[in-house]
Amino acid sequence: MACLPTTSPALASRRWLGLGLFVLLCLSLGYAQNNVVKIVKSKAGDKVGLPCCHEIPTSESLQRHRVYWQKNTTVVVLAYVEGKKMPQDKQYENRTEINTRNLTLWMSPVEILDNGSYQCVVQRLSSSPNGDSVVLCNEPVILLVTADFSEPNVSAEVSADSCELTEMVVRCSSHGGYPKPQISGALNNEPVAWNVSWVSESSLSPYNVTGKFKLNVTKDTNFTCTVKYNGFTKSSSLLLTKPEGCAVPTVPPSYNVITATSIIIIIFLLAITLAARYLPRHGLRIQWKRVQKSVRSHLRALK
Ligand SMILES: *[C@@H]1O[C@H](CO)[C@@H](O)[C@H](O)[C@H]1NC(C)=O
Ligand SMILES: *[C@@H]1O[C@H](CO)[C@@H](O)[C@H](O)[C@H]1NC(C)=O
Ligand SMILES: *[C@@H]1O[C@H](CO)[C@@H](O)[C@H](O)[C@H]1NC(C)=O
Ligand SMILES: *[C@@H]1O[C@H](CO)[C@@H](O)[C@H](O)[C@H]1NC(C)=O
Ligand SMILES: *[C@@H]1O[C@H](CO)[C@@H](O)[C@H](O)[C@H]1NC(C)=O
Ligand SMILES: *[C@@H]1O[C@H](CO)[C@@H](O)[C@H](O)[C@H]1NC(C)=O
Ligand SMILES: *[C@@H]1O[C@H](CO)[C@@H](O)[C@H](O)[C@H]1NC(C)=O
Ligand SMILES: *[C@@H]1O[C@H](CO)[C@@H](O)[C@H](O)[C@H]1NC(C)=O
Ligand SMILES: *[C@@H]1O[C@H](CO)[C@@H](O)[C@H](O)[C@H]1NC(C)=O
Repeated sequence: MACLPTTSPALASRRWLGLGLFVLLCLSLGYAQNNVVKIVKSKAGDKVGLPCCHEIPTSESLQRHRVYWQKNTTVVVLAYVEGKKMPQDKQYENRTEINTRNLTLWMSPVEILDNGSYQCVVQRLSSSPNGDSVVLCNEPVILLVTADFSEPNVSAEVSADSCELTEMVVRCSSHGGYPKPQISGALNNEPVAWNVSWVSESSLSPYNVTGKFKLNVTKDTNFTCTVKYNGFTKSSSLLLTKPEGCAVPTVPPSYNVITATSIIIIIFLLAITLAARYLPRHGLRIQWKRVQKSVRSHLRALK
């Protein structure tokens, strides 16, 4: 691989950077290619340490070195030249520090925007004024930032119900995580094909994710929804049950029916009261005696 301009960092334009760095970066490309790139994972909000490729021996000091922590070869994260801290990108102000021995870059709190590839470049200054400084190492470290998704929320809604079948809309959603997740659904451990939608304000913002599908439930079925992001997994399950059998639906009396019934009963009672008051009294009494008599004869007949 040739020495591509991608290794020409924006910080090369900074006056405090030695002109030689560009060349030295090129010379040191070999280091990066021969090593497995280190990957560090961190959660947004946590503190993370990115290891550097060089440790300054106790016999030496930071004053004799140049240390550059940069991101994506373009942004100065933290840099020390001859022991003095150099101007850094605003994004990293007040949340970064360096271990002056092993040159680990500490970052706290980590933000989603910090995701990406970093390089630690270490030079030792020559002891003689005209001597060349030597690049001790230049290695990338990849920082993968994740943010936790909420526990998946699984819900099921009956969309059509009859004796033969129950159709349900099953939905699973999870929010506030990073990076863009995968979401999968399984019915009794069989994967389902479903519609997935993601929402995020930008590619570097938290994601909300939703999966949705319809099915006909014929028997109790265990549904599991799984959200995966950067090697992390969150699952929730819901038992989908078919509503009970095919009994004639017992519709509870509605308020209208109750009201109508009450009104009829009240009118009936009112009518009886009015009748009792206004019909001729003795006529009623005769009627009443007749009823008593017939009841008595019936009772006798029963004995
Ligand atoms: C550097 O030193 C710190 C303690 O100051 C330690 O936590 C860290 O693991 C060290 N890193 C490496 C790469 O040795
Ligand atoms: C990092 O650099 C690559 C090319 O070197 C570029 O495509 C990408 O947009 C850069 N990313 C950021 C966040 O600057
Ligand atoms: C960092 O802290 C200094 C001093 O407290 C403050 O003046 C500066 O605005 C801070 N920078 C950022 C980016 O917060
Ligand atoms: C985070 O950074 C790594 C390394 O540069 C990159 O591969 C990955 O795509 C980034 N993630 C996102 C979601 O941008
Ligand atoms: C789960 O989702 C349902 C329907 O989508 C919603 O009504 C409910 O509030 C959600 N529950 C939580 C804890 O988010
Ligand atoms: C996905 O949504 C489209 C349109 O909204 C619909 O036609 C299709 O049937 C859905 N697929 C599944 C598996 O639900
Ligand atoms: C994601 O979901 C949360 C909680 O439901 C909500 O507050 C937020 O606005 C959603 N984000 C987007 C980008 O829709
Ligand atoms: C459920 O069954 C009905 C009737 O057989 C059919 O019309 C419908 O498409 C089915 N729904 C699903 C999600 O399979
Ligand atoms: C559903 O399946 C999941 C995963 O296979 C399991 O953890 C859970 O206990 C099951 N739930 C029920 C109610 O069977």
